Amino acid sequence: MEKLIGKKNIAIFISGRGSNLKSLIKYSKLKYSQINIKIIISNNGKAKGLKYAKESKIKYYINNYKNINNSEKEILKKLNKFKIDFICLAGFMKILSRKFIKQFNKPILNIHPSLLPKYKGLNTHERVLINKEKFSGATVHLVTPKLDSGKIILQKKIKILKNYNVKSLEKKILKIEHKLYPEAICKFIANL
Ligand code: GRF
Repeated sequence: MEKLIGKKNIAIFISGRGSNLKSLIKYSKLKYSQINIKIIISNNGKAKGLKYAKESKIKYYINNYKNINNSEKEILKKLNKFKIDFICLAGFMKILSRKFIKQFNKPILNIHPSLLPKYKGLNTHERVLINKEKFSGATVHLVTPKLDSGKIILQKKIKILKNYNVKSLEKKILKIEHKLYPEAICKFIANL
């Protein structure tokens, strides 16, 4: 891949709470950070996370995905307009089509609350606890057309304590995610 100089322009895709978005905005404001968040894209106009975009005066774009083809076309236009170098998915609940991934033709990162390749998909914490796993964690990986299956960039593992329930495990892992995503981005950029 071509070596990029200076800060990278990124787009963050969200659907809801936006706590990872919040941590990435905080990171982007650090002097040494190598990212410039150009636009936040949400498929949900009521996403709580949009408040972080507004507070930080970052542009945002809402597309309700009524028609995936048209929505992806419009989103691609935005990504081109803002010269986006790579996308960070942060709790984005829509699956990007193979066509979109191909047309964007630049890296797409995602954060997932499990130790991939284990527990792809939804309800990870429930499944981890039902299976009495000893460890869980979070993973930042590259997005491919296959769900939660691209190359792993960084992963952090935690021990599951006896008293954890879905809520406390989610809370514990979310805290880890907030550190892991910026670290993974750093590592990813260093290896471009
Ligand atoms: C996180 O657990 C992330 O790993 C998953 O969706 C959740 C989003 O949380 N993909 P938030 O919207 O960033 O608070």
